[in-house]
Amino acid sequence: RRHIDRATPEAVLAAVEAGLTEPELPRWQDLAAYRAEGGYETLLALRAGARTPEQVQGALLEAGLRGMGGAGFPSGRKWSFVRAEPGPRYMAVNADEGEPGTFKDRALLESTPHTVLEGMLIAAWAIEAERCFFYLRDEYPAALEILRREIAALEEAGLIAPGHVELRRGAGAYICGEESAMLESIEGKRGLPRHRPPYVAQRGLWGRPTLVHNVETLHWTTRICREGPQVLNGVERNGRRGLRAFSVSGRVKRPGVHLLPAGSTIRDVIEAAGGMQDGHVFKAYQPGGPSAGILPASIDDAPLDFDALDAHGTFIGSAAIVVLSDKDRIRDAALNMLRFFEEESCGQCTPCRVGCEKAVKLMEAPRWDAPLLEELCQTMADASICGLGQAAPNPIRLALRHFADELDAEG
Ligand code: NAI
Ligand code: SF4
Repeated sequence: RRHIDRATPEAVLAAVEAGLTEPELPRWQDLAAYRAEGGYETLLALRAGARTPEQVQGALLEAGLRGMGGAGFPSGRKWSFVRAEPGPRYMAVNADEGEPGTFKDRALLESTPHTVLEGMLIAAWAIEAERCFFYLRDEYPAALEILRREIAALEEAGLIAPGHVELRRGAGAYICGEESAMLESIEGKRGLPRHRPPYVAQRGLWGRPTLVHNVETLHWTTRICREGPQVLNGVERNGRRGLRAFSVSGRVKRPGVHLLPAGSTIRDVIEAAGGMQDGHVFKAYQPGGPSAGILPASIDDAPLDFDALDAHGTFIGSAAIVVLSDKDRIRDAALNMLRFFEEESCGQCTPCRVGCEKAVKLMEAPRWDAPLLEELCQTMADASICGLGQAAPNPIRLALRHFADELDAEG
């Protein structure tokens, strides 16, 4: 890591002696700039009784806001689940953006952190949370520094009580983005996913009802409260409503975060990203990081929206679009994804721990044993405890379905 750990004065000294530097901070909208354009007026009005939590929840549902971490669960519904439980209740922000190819949350935190923080405080107000925990991926040093400064500024401005929002750093484990593993980690334990039910809405942090939202979900919560549900439901394309922040990478000319209608197709996304790089022909794409596997270029008219890829055996997830070209081998790409899952499996359950390892071995063989791989995939999907082991077979299944003729080592 190339940044200074400011946890203690000793850590700062040690970092300086080791020659580490401050992260290069991007330009972001600080508290003063945010308030100058009306920021936190919505929160203050809500706290003063301008609307009830039920009314705000109704606005979220009307807007069609769904969990933007990737699962797409209707955000407003989570509020009533948590409110139905007796207090004390907690709020936790999932900023452990670990899905390879996903970087939209980072873009928000490094540019407009207060739309996220205000959304967190609105949600915390709605469920009457005792405290908020902000769990940040440690690979985002600039976002860490920005959040430290801006949370301190919120305390200084009296918008939050000292210690009401606690910033927690992850430690590089992908599995800690799984919500129950994240809560374990916040509690100071090893990040092992819990069985569910009970859901975290019922039994979350220290066994108390906990509202967990992704960074982008909270950004839209603020926007909906301030601008109305039409900020999302007023946008329509291909019969789908809403907006999606696509993290686009791979063989395109302009990789980056592209905000497009949720009904956009892969062709729209590639066009927004400046088209294919010179000398590359569009061949395949990951619609939602490795968890969603790989689709062929021929599936180019499907809206990249929640539930719209069900028929193709996959999902949009966190909208991490990785564009592959004729210069990429699907066999290598799929193997790379399974190696990632093997590395990141927490090892708690056998179907995932042993399954990922076995899958990698089978995929490294000169020829893929399709029936054996299919059987293994089924076992992993059926019997793994959490989403990691359940989704890990997706790259294998889709490669077998769409690219069977190029899976041999010499192919
Ligand atoms: P899920 O659909 O099981 O749950 C989604 C949310 O709804 C959770 O907060 C869960 O507690 C809540 N929920 C669902 N049913 C509920 C019920 N009956 N009562 C109360 N609460 C309920 O999905 P999961 O496993 O949380 O997330 C999977 C997604 O995460 C995948 O689509 C994947 O794309 C995405 N993902 C995103 C990553 C990122 O870096 N953004 C990393 C890895 C995966
Ligand atoms: Fe851990 Fe994998 Fe089991 Fe999830 S599926 S609990 S990551 S071993």
